Amino acid sequence: MFPFLFVLLLSFSWATSAHTHEDFLECLRLQSEDSASISKLIYTPINSSYLSVLQFSIQNRRFNTTTTPKPLVIVTPLNVSHVQAAVSCSQKHGMHIRVRSGGHDYEGLSYVSVLPFVIIDLINLQSVTVDATNNTAWVEAGATNGKLYYSIAQKSRTLGFPAGVCPTVGLGGHISGGGYGLLLRKYGLAADNVIDAQLIDVNGRILDRASMGEDLFWAIRGGGGNTFGIVVAWKVNLVPVPATVTVFTVEKTLEQNATQLVNRWQYVADKLHEDLFIRVILERVNSSNRQGKTTIRAAFNSLFLGGVDRLLPLMQESFPELGLAKDDCTEMSWIESTLYFAGFSRNTSLEILLNRTQPSVRFFKAKSDYVKEPMPEVALEGIWESLFQLEVGSGQLIFSPYGGRMSEISESSIPFPHRAGNLYKIQHLAYWDEEGIEESNRHISWIRRLYSFLAPYVSKNPRLAYINYRDLDIGINNQGNTSYKQASIWGSKYFKSNFDRLVHVKTQVDPSNFFRNEQSIPPFSA
Ligand SMILES: Cc1cc2nc3c(=O)[nH]c(=O)nc-3n(C[C@H](O)[C@H](O)[C@H](O)COP(=O)(O)OP(=O)(O)OC[C@H]3O[C@@H](n4cnc5c(N)ncnc54)[C@H](O)[C@@H]3O)c2cc1C
Ligand SMILES: *[C@@H]1O[C@H](CO)[C@@H](O)[C@H](O)[C@H]1NC(C)=O
Ligand SMILES: *[C@@H]1O[C@H](CO)[C@@H](O)[C@H](O)[C@H]1NC(C)=O
Ligand SMILES: *[C@@H]1O[C@H](CO)[C@@H](O)[C@H](O)[C@H]1NC(C)=O
Ligand SMILES: *[C@@H]1O[C@H](CO)[C@@H](O)[C@H](O)[C@H]1NC(C)=O
Ligand SMILES: *[C@@H]1O[C@H](CO)[C@@H](O)[C@H](O)[C@H]1NC(C)=O
Ligand SMILES: *[C@@H]1O[C@H](CO)[C@@H](O)[C@H](O)[C@H]1NC(C)=O
Ligand SMILES: *[C@@H]1O[C@H](CO)[C@@H](O)[C@H](O)[C@H]1NC(C)=O
Ligand SMILES: *[C@@H]1O[C@H](CO)[C@@H](O)[C@H](O)[C@H]1NC(C)=O
Ligand SMILES: *[C@@H]1O[C@H](CO)[C@@H](O)[C@H](O)[C@H]1NC(C)=O
Repeated sequence: MFPFLFVLLLSFSWATSAHTHEDFLECLRLQSEDSASISKLIYTPINSSYLSVLQFSIQNRRFNTTTTPKPLVIVTPLNVSHVQAAVSCSQKHGMHIRVRSGGHDYEGLSYVSVLPFVIIDLINLQSVTVDATNNTAWVEAGATNGKLYYSIAQKSRTLGFPAGVCPTVGLGGHISGGGYGLLLRKYGLAADNVIDAQLIDVNGRILDRASMGEDLFWAIRGGGGNTFGIVVAWKVNLVPVPATVTVFTVEKTLEQNATQLVNRWQYVADKLHEDLFIRVILERVNSSNRQGKTTIRAAFNSLFLGGVDRLLPLMQESFPELGLAKDDCTEMSWIESTLYFAGFSRNTSLEILLNRTQPSVRFFKAKSDYVKEPMPEVALEGIWESLFQLEVGSGQLIFSPYGGRMSEISESSIPFPHRAGNLYKIQHLAYWDEEGIEESNRHISWIRRLYSFLAPYVSKNPRLAYINYRDLDIGINNQGNTSYKQASIWGSKYFKSNFDRLVHVKTQVDPSNFFRNEQSIPPFSA
């Protein structure tokens, strides 16, 4: 009696949906050959571990508050047949679902919804099978980047994979939105390197590349998660990396000509040798020279696919202004470089790549932009001014260079359209640590002002964006009732003209719009 009352008090949506969600649970038990074992994979608010399971994969404190809408049920499948059962029972009983792999969605869409909902959490589906003879791997969607990198390194020191920098990112969401890291100028995106997949469709069927067909296989490689089905596993091509790579981070403050160097970087970064990736991380910092004085720091953060003896002459030829010296550089294996870029010290054991918990999870809001012509210095100075408006360490911009392989892949090869013609991508970030609406508003207003300020200097008509840096400010679907026109506002920013083909595929495979969220592709009819 008590738990039931508690539940009623806990959530109004629970009360109104109690009937369907009870039916849903009953359906799950019936569908499973072994109803005792599936019940161990089902969490409702009466289970004492419900909150810890929900919170485990939350990567943004904005969506970890008492007022954040919570799911009626969390299902944590152990195998494909559990995923199939969860989909068909949700269908049958009209439950809205959200799929979660690593939980890094910037707007929390994998575990938050305004509708009563169920989370299908793939955390238990995280096996990785590396075939170092054929240079491929099957990775389950709930596996993380770190797990994939670790598993590759167990088999080979000269194979890698071009996915993201952060080890805790889940491959289910990451590849569904493209996925890039320090290898993108050499090998493109994670999604460019997918060769097969296992997908549970709206009817609960399991499909592979051959049975889903090339249109659907195209759509799931970058068209956004929770839209075409649930990806259970990806088959990816691994890529060659040299036994020795070189990393460096050269930091320059305004007093050390950061403005001129960032300006110069804009002209060279996309044209460098494709073995060389140099991104710039911009922040306000306490000056290292004079106590109490703050400045802007540009960190030139780089991976080179080769040894330092080849890197130095390349830098001398293409970016001498940075003044890179041998002492700035460290040679290591590719797998060690994944730790370096994740911010771990040199001697940290590789097992840290298997740890799904980020060292510090903060409140954050982010946005993205594409830059097609170098910004004038006055724009850079405007960015510095903007960073000076916030306290140290709470605003950040990351400039990631394109060019190389990214310019060779056609805009329509997969749904991700940002290829030739882009010098670099900007990620704008605001972080904070204090709860409360005021802090939140202050930082979100700040990032919106910065975004407005940059409008004249970045891509236009439409102003382009990266779906894996999800930003609900650029437009949302009206839940369950989205017009093509409404969705094309944000859709053309993420996908350019690939949006139309995505709508076409969606209409074919999920005409009733079962898989949906605030920024999923709508079918024509909906
Ligand atoms: C700290 C941090 C670092 C990041 N670094 C990078 C980076 O270096 N490069 C980069 O490209 N991106 C990066 N990202 C962004 C990241 O790629 C996206 O947030 C990505 O969508 C996360 O995938 P996930 O599985 O962890 O997230 P989730 O929140 O679980 O999923 C994201 C979306 O995909 C859907 N989804 C999840 N799993 C599946 C599935 N199996 N089938 C179908 N749909 C699914 C979800 O419903 C949701 O809509 C970073 C994000 C964070 C928070
Ligand atoms: C949650 O509670 C129900 C009812 O007591 C139980 O059947 C189920 O096994 C519990 N779930 C887990 C994961 O323990
Ligand atoms: C979420 O909040 C709970 C407290 O309610 C806390 O224990 C947990 O560490 C938080 N997790 C994240 C990722 O913020
Ligand atoms: C999934 O696990 C259940 C036990 O929970 C088992 O009965 C079933 O055969 C498994 N299905 C597959 C496809 O492995
Ligand atoms: C490599 O691929 C071939 C052909 O597809 C296959 O026969 C072989 O078993 C694969 N190698 C391994 C180690 O699985
Ligand atoms: C900054 O640039 C100016 C002129 O371009 C040069 O004279 C000066 O030495 C540079 N300062 C540093 C710290 O490199
Ligand atoms: C920067 O300096 C201020 C004032 O001295 C201090 O309060 C703050 O902790 C410093 N921040 C960092 C990140 O060092
Ligand atoms: C790594 O090295 C640092 C000093 O360089 C030391 O303080 C730290 O304890 C070491 N960590 C581990 C895990 O060995
Ligand atoms: C995983 O990382 C988190 C955050 O750094 C840490 O608190 C935790 O102890 C680590 N877990 C293991 C098993 O190492
Ligand atoms: C859907 O949109 C149409 C037109 O905007 C409106 O008339 C209708 O009431 C909406 N339906 C729902 C369920 O919101």
